[in-house]
Amino acid sequence: MTDGRITTAKLGDHGPEVGVQGLGCMGMSFAYGPVDAEASRATLERALELGVTFYDTADAYGAGENERFLSPFFKAHRDEVVIATKFALSIPPDDPTRRVIRNDPPYIRQAVEASLKRLDVDVIDLYYMHRRDVNVPIEESVGTMADLVREGKVKHLGLSEVTADELRAAHAVHPIAAVQSEWSLFSRDIEPKVVPAARDLGVALVPYSPLGRGFLTGSFAKAEDLTPDDFRRQQPRFTGENATANATLLELIRSVAKAHDASLGQIALAWAHQQATVHDLPVIPIPGTRKPSRVEENTAATRIVLTDEQLDLLDGIAAQVAGNRYADMAFTSAGRE
Ligand SMILES: NC(=O)c1ccc[n+]([C@@H]2O[C@H](COP(=O)([O-])OP(=O)(O)OC[C@H]3O[C@@H](n4cnc5c(N)ncnc54)[C@H](OP(=O)(O)O)[C@@H]3O)[C@@H](O)[C@H]2O)c1
Repeated sequence: MTDGRITTAKLGDHGPEVGVQGLGCMGMSFAYGPVDAEASRATLERALELGVTFYDTADAYGAGENERFLSPFFKAHRDEVVIATKFALSIPPDDPTRRVIRNDPPYIRQAVEASLKRLDVDVIDLYYMHRRDVNVPIEESVGTMADLVREGKVKHLGLSEVTADELRAAHAVHPIAAVQSEWSLFSRDIEPKVVPAARDLGVALVPYSPLGRGFLTGSFAKAEDLTPDDFRRQQPRFTGENATANATLLELIRSVAKAHDASLGQIALAWAHQQATVHDLPVIPIPGTRKPSRVEENTAATRIVLTDEQLDLLDGIAAQVAGNRYADMAFTSAGRE
């Protein structure tokens, strides 16, 4: 690995080979302040040079805008990239600010056609259910997703923020390649049940927000400092007294970073990558960035190996975090587990 390229891993027993770190593309179109298309395009190209092949988007990111934005990059490198997108967060025509969870078969069929069109590709490599609508049996939804595989519209299936039981029920209908859930030094609620279930079934874990939405890098101290439309303002742990208390937890990460001559973010990512060894399953984090220099920094974290002592020290952080990761925890697997 003399040229800085990352290594590859199989995305579970049922998924494709991908770079061990993916790229979260959500922030390129929305959620985290002003967008910069030129820097984002340069970020995508630099990521590919560094061996990042797994790109994460969703139809909900900017109401389709993120898929449209990524389309030229994907088309230019179709054979080199693994495209992951998601359905389930529908936008009611009468209120574009709201999101309604939909898992019903007619909606899934409509959503996949819309994503294929926006991405302008023949097939989606990994198609995730973004959120679970508990009013629709998961067997029914995954049955439709399996039909999409048979019809050649989708290659592999994934689920986001599902419980262990939901994963098992889904996997019985069709093999699931990956579960995508929030997993970081600050967010470890999936470890007791979802992670063991994934390991048992040969399903890969794709940690989203592995940098704690940027908080773990120290790049912002409280959400009140961010632009008015920034999504992080809605998350209890990043505002007010919670944010102040949580910022003190970064000191532990800083001490480990110093020992490795690394950044805070690199230690957060090294920890996420090392969960593959700790839990004995494939773990492919997808940090999000819009800056080429940060892709370089983030991919370099795959080469950091934390000692058992450092892992023990970092393991104590999550229990001390003040505030939930979402305002409404029903939006997460932990809210139903
Ligand atoms: N399934 C789901 O429900 C779900 C939910 C959330 C996210 N996701 C996916 O997961 C991806 C990653 O999660 P995320 O973007 O929410 O959070 P994240 O990866 O934990 O953090 C992203 C934030 O960190 C900043 N950042 C990245 N690298 C940095 C570095 N080296 N130094 C300092 N700051 C850095 C980014 O800013 P810049 O962009 O300015 O660099 C951005 O604000 C998303 O892009 C999305 O694809 C999925």
